Amino acid sequence: MKPLYWYLAGLLLPLALAGAATDFDFFFHVQQWPGSYCDARGGCCFPRNQKPAADFAIHGLWPYYADCRRSRPTQCWPDYCNATDPLNTSLISDLEDDLLRNWGTLSCRDRNATDLWGHEWGRHGTCSGMDQHAYFRAALDFKAKFNLTRILLDAGIEPSNRKTYDVSSIRDAVTEATGSAPSVECNRNERDEAQLYQVYQCVGRDGKTPVHCPRHLESRCGEKVRFPAF
Ligand SMILES: *[C@@H]1O[C@H](CO)[C@@H](O)[C@H](O)[C@H]1NC(C)=O
Ligand SMILES: *[C@@H]1O[C@H](CO)[C@@H](O)[C@H](O)[C@H]1NC(C)=O
Ligand SMILES: *[C@@H]1O[C@H](CO)[C@@H](O)[C@H](O)[C@H]1NC(C)=O
Ligand SMILES: *[C@@H]1O[C@H](CO)[C@@H](O)[C@H](O)[C@H]1NC(C)=O
Repeated sequence: MKPLYWYLAGLLLPLALAGAATDFDFFFHVQQWPGSYCDARGGCCFPRNQKPAADFAIHGLWPYYADCRRSRPTQCWPDYCNATDPLNTSLISDLEDDLLRNWGTLSCRDRNATDLWGHEWGRHGTCSGMDQHAYFRAALDFKAKFNLTRILLDAGIEPSNRKTYDVSSIRDAVTEATGSAPSVECNRNERDEAQLYQVYQCVGRDGKTPVHCPRHLESRCGEKVRFPAF
């Protein structure tokens, strides 16, 4: 007769393996405003010394839990779901130009965007249930379909070093254009003023459809924010 744990392992192991990639509720599609990255205390460096376009850039596409208690108490997202599936850039070579334009890095420490993509894939993408190509394609397509820069411009919210904007007007513009209310994250410029830094949009598990956000992030913006020129 086989010991009890033998049967238990047979029951639980397949669940654990299957669970890794699929056990989440929605994605945060996170985009960053380059002007607010660069005028913060740490400063920024341009890739190959070329200033990128004045457009939001993707930070990541992150699988998330609607209900944190399903995860560890302090972490509301699954991560590092498959250590044996590192980024292989030859699988996404056809996307490279698009990625360089829309998913670059302004960090002075991590100069090579490939490192950022490798990190985002390894930590978040391996939990998405998509393969490498589908994951990067989904993030790019969502950005192209719901062009944040354009959505804000159309609502009269343009980058400016003089004006400030109501955070609610930024949130409302995105909600109006996509049907889903985003979270807005701020950072601080060198004068310690709050400025629009990242926008978190909620996307369904298909990686395509904006959904009602089951979870909103603490914004730390206050009421008025800057949206600095870049
Ligand atoms: C992890 O990635 C490898 C290589 O792509 C794949 O063969 C394997 O099925 C993946 N494992 C899981 C649990 O998804
Ligand atoms: C990366 O993908 C290419 C194309 O599918 C394949 O030929 C190559 O073996 C892969 N490299 C690694 C390290 O898995
Ligand atoms: C990053 O570095 C690798 C190897 O060092 C190089 O092949 C690749 O072209 C670089 N990628 C970018 C986007 O600069
Ligand atoms: C988004 O719209 C802005 C402003 O019209 C434009 O400059 C930018 O190229 C667009 N981005 C994409 C990914 O289409």
